[in-house]
Amino acid sequence: MAVLPATPESIARATVLLRGGGVVAFPTETVYGLGALAFDAFAIARIFEIKRRPSFDPLIVHVLERAMLHRVASHVPEAAQRLVERFWPGPLTLVLPKQSSVPGIVTAGLATVAVRAPSHPVARALLAGVGEPIAAPSANPFGALSPTRAGHVAQALGESVELILDGGPSEYGIESTIVGFDGGPVLLRPGAVAVEAIEATIGPVLRSSSDGPARAPGQLPEHYAPRTPLRVIDPASVPQTERARAALLAMREPLTGYAAARVLSHRGDLREAAATLFEALHELDALGLERIDAQSVPERGLGLAIMDRLRRAQASSSNA
Ligand code: TXA
Ligand code: MG
Repeated sequence: MAVLPATPESIARATVLLRGGGVVAFPTETVYGLGALAFDAFAIARIFEIKRRPSFDPLIVHVLERAMLHRVASHVPEAAQRLVERFWPGPLTLVLPKQSSVPGIVTAGLATVAVRAPSHPVARALLAGVGEPIAAPSANPFGALSPTRAGHVAQALGESVELILDGGPSEYGIESTIVGFDGGPVLLRPGAVAVEAIEATIGPVLRSSSDGPARAPGQLPEHYAPRTPLRVIDPASVPQTERARAALLAMREPLTGYAAARVLSHRGDLREAAATLFEALHELDALGLERIDAQSVPERGLGLAIMDRLRRAQASSSNA
């Protein structure tokens, strides 16, 4: 394994590895991705193996621009085109009917493909270098916390990944928003683009309900789990004696008595809070305390994505 700063030389090396059927970890503006050429089914199988990801959980395909989008999507509805114009390149993933040439392993056998154009210059340089779509899930073991630094990737997957490009901490720190078009637009995963901003562009977006079949397997209730049990709670209601053995993930202000605390945003800014979330969870998790108490945040703007990740982390804890 090598962790290399993302320079033109290391990006060129990653390009050669990808072209040869290899798997490379690289920074995006959301979280770090674990990538391989989307049309190379054998290389994609390695991603599933490295992540210990179940084969029913499809991957996101990354493209450079619209021309590359049409290599993987057979049809782009009008609303999707408007979203592409407004938000690409950037942290918005669209689920669209797939081209038959996209290997079934990428889409877990679905007739649709999830696709986004990342804005991160290193991800874009890789895409330009290989000249082909790159399929990349987040570079973490299945179900674990997402990586927002090269070090997170090295720690969790280091031995099985040949090259990790280090582009510094992720700007958004939370995954892309996923929108599907099943009749009308449907929010499949809240993420780095607020659903309010999407609705300002294309009108009402259906919130996918938690009943019915999970459309995005990332919607599995247990996901994004630290090893330390986590609960979403009003920390003010937690007795001092219990605080001493726990870590606090606070929105604005820490409370006294906790063994450790991380504040997501002193200014109470939800975007800053989203960008800090996984990094703070990685840090608190490493302390090996009895529990993490997470304070809730308002479910507007990026608060929706934050609460989504915290609830899933809590669901994993209660099943552990
Ligand atoms: O920000 C991101 O999207 C990051 C970076 C690396 O781009 N990637 C990411 O990938 O979060 P991953 O694999 O961790 O999450 C992809 C989600 C999964 O929940 C998957 O089920 C969903 O996308 N997905 C993929 N293809 C789908 C499809 N055809 N229909 C519905 N959901 C799909
Ligand atoms: Mg993931």
